[in-house]
Amino acid sequence: MKNRILTGIKPTGYAHIGNYLGAIKPAIELSNNEDFDCFYFIADYHALTTLSNRQEMIEYTYNIACTWLACGLDPNKVIFYKQSDIPEDFELNWILCNVTPKGLMNRAHAYKAFTERNEKEGLDKDNGVNMGLYNYPILMASDIILFGANYVPVGLDQKQHIEIARDIVNYFNNKYGNVFILPKEYIQEDTCTLVGLDGRKMSKSYGNTIQLFSTEDQLRKTINKIVTDSKMPGEPKNLDCTINKIYKLFATTEQSKDFDKKLLNGLSWGEAKKELFEVMNEYIKPMREKFNYYQNHKEEVDKILAEGAEKARKVAKEYLQKTRHAIGADL
Ligand code: TRP
Repeated sequence: MKNRILTGIKPTGYAHIGNYLGAIKPAIELSNNEDFDCFYFIADYHALTTLSNRQEMIEYTYNIACTWLACGLDPNKVIFYKQSDIPEDFELNWILCNVTPKGLMNRAHAYKAFTERNEKEGLDKDNGVNMGLYNYPILMASDIILFGANYVPVGLDQKQHIEIARDIVNYFNNKYGNVFILPKEYIQEDTCTLVGLDGRKMSKSYGNTIQLFSTEDQLRKTINKIVTDSKMPGEPKNLDCTINKIYKLFATTEQSKDFDKKLLNGLSWGEAKKELFEVMNEYIKPMREKFNYYQNHKEEVDKILAEGAEKARKVAKEYLQKTRHAIGADL
């Protein structure tokens, strides 16, 4: 049997180059490997802990869908769908709630961080916490278990969620027999090293990201915001600078060597930014064209997601049926 790979992305903002290099690109490479069977989905119901606006939800959902397609996801190779189109997920979620100890949720990082912040500020521990946030890890376990996934590619910040999913599998299997497969996280370590505009890790929460698909003009403007030191034109630049780090991610080895030389020879920061724009834009341009195509042909995106959901539900129904059988709800 092929190994099954599954991962979800929340539609909570516009995709940035950190998402692309750290998650999307490697996931697409995995999907081109014949040994794997891939399920990639848009975790729109998980986004409800952050979003509460119809227009934003629609905008970000299409943004993520068009991004994956533009970056080369082939819907004939990957089962690509939207979480909210899979009702079986939410039925399984309820069943899983009944084998999940409340204490396990109390220890989940996101919830714990929230309550600790409240306590520090002298507020009630659960101030502003809704049950969506609290139960978030159980829905995530359900997303994974419903398709019998073996590996879940995620960033380091999601590792605990996969451990929780494994715990939930064990609780269920101990009660009802060996029904579910134990999933494993598949961590891409280098996800963590990508730097943002200010030199810190690139992250939506720091507001230091470079959006993957903006207009050329916006890309140029964003690159101009990269923080540099105050070295003058003519002075040698440190090769460890943010501009060079980002440059290397998009350049060929030859371009990289050449750029190193220029920096050491005193290329001005203004020129360096121009060259960074050129190399990034060249890389992104063909994908941007596809992205814009899908943004202007949303009916095609709808169709791809609907077909993906249909394929996904076939698998989901089998697993749910096994679960219903195990608990005695399949009369
Ligand atoms: N929680 C994940 C994130 O914030 C998104 C997600 C939801 C997910 N369900 C999933 C990832 C299932 C992997 C598998 O990035």
